[in-house]
Amino acid sequence: MRFVRELTSWLSGAADPDDFPYSPVLAEFHRVGKHFVEKELLALLDSARARVTVPAAGPPSPAARLLGDFLDVALDKWDGRYDYRSYLALRLLGLPCGADDGPGGEDDGPGQPEGARRDRDRLLVRLVADALAFELAAGSDATHLLPEDRPSREVVAKRHRLSVRAAAPALARLGLAGEVHDREPAAVLRALVADGDPAVGLALRLSMLPVYVSHDEYLFIRVLQAYECLFAGLVEELRATIVALRAGHARPAADRLAYACAQLTAAGPLFSLLATMQPTAFRTFRQYTEGASAIQSRSYKLMESLCRTPEGARLESPAYQQVPEVRDRVQAGQPSVDEAFRAAVREGLLTGADAELVAGAMRTFAAAVLQWRRTHHRLATRMLGPRPGTGYTEGTPYLAAVRSIPVFSSVTHDPVPSSRTDPTGGSPE
Ligand code: HEM
Repeated sequence: MRFVRELTSWLSGAADPDDFPYSPVLAEFHRVGKHFVEKELLALLDSARARVTVPAAGPPSPAARLLGDFLDVALDKWDGRYDYRSYLALRLLGLPCGADDGPGGEDDGPGQPEGARRDRDRLLVRLVADALAFELAAGSDATHLLPEDRPSREVVAKRHRLSVRAAAPALARLGLAGEVHDREPAAVLRALVADGDPAVGLALRLSMLPVYVSHDEYLFIRVLQAYECLFAGLVEELRATIVALRAGHARPAADRLAYACAQLTAAGPLFSLLATMQPTAFRTFRQYTEGASAIQSRSYKLMESLCRTPEGARLESPAYQQVPEVRDRVQAGQPSVDEAFRAAVREGLLTGADAELVAGAMRTFAAAVLQWRRTHHRLATRMLGPRPGTGYTEGTPYLAAVRSIPVFSSVTHDPVPSSRTDPTGGSPE
């Protein structure tokens, strides 16, 4: 097998991370699915990891770090470490994924957010465009990747439309709106190529390791990764909101919340995109994703707890037990927008129209979060039915119970959002 030959030769040579045989390794993982890769091959990869992670004098080179991260993702099941973060290869994408916080994890203050926002827009566009590229390639028989349960032409056409809608706001902010003229899907791909950085391109390629060979798992992984990119951005906006509130700066606080709200609302088509998954295909590949659930999403729980400190019962529930580093932060006194707003009003830093401006932005953001939860619950019900979740909850009853948890308690907000804030414009289908 090419995989074995090339890997053995790499191992018996200088084991230079720059020359690692990524292509045959990926091809083998894609041929059978990560869950089914043979033990002998995983053992070889384990030896490769031992070579690349050997303690060196200085910090690892970018190539060594990339390879180490890739091997950790490829070997998560072998190591018994498989979870949501390794399934989505978040570290390879530069997204926060652990107790060490990762990029963008710390308080960025009220300063200039443009650079970080731009990076996130770029990543989101690339993730969506890559999912679309796969649909186009499979639809024209240009790839044999993940051949099981190919969708119909109608479904593929719908995915094209929804991908373009999902990427359009970020493309517009990047100044690439002209690329999606006439909503032509291929234009999104051109935008991707125009914006192409080869290092990011490789990381993107390495971050696609489905557990099975079902076509729809590609879409599932990319949509989850896109949401992780979004949640990481919301976390930054909320942290900056807190900093602004503590200084009594109403306008920057309201602007940060409004930006976060617009992000979440504009991402609605991502759920619609995922609703085109074939439930039977989903139920097939999810047999092998047991143990990886978005209940382990660190960024989502950070987002939730930065809005309002969760009550004791929620903190002790599986929701936070599965993200212990976030629970620790909360228990160590992590501030929240809710408390910062209350304190600013109490201390007279925010009064009158300023206080109302922030309260209004909080209400609108809360409505977007509640709508996200409702749409997510509807999607899960459609895909899952009465089956339990892969995160060891009873499934949709858990989601029904958590969907109306208040986002903030210092302002009253409507638990039933108006249609104006519905990110999907209706049903996810
Ligand atoms: C087919 C699509 C989906 C299904 C069937 C589904 C199902 C579920 C289920 C059953 C849970 C409860 C935990 C568990 O036992 O696993 C859950 C939690 C969660 N899901 Fe999804 N989900 C889907 C898509 C998504 C997407 C695209 C996201 C975006 C990141 C997402 C984010 C979350 C989050 C953040 C939680 C934790 C909620 C909390 O603890 O309050 N899900 N999902």
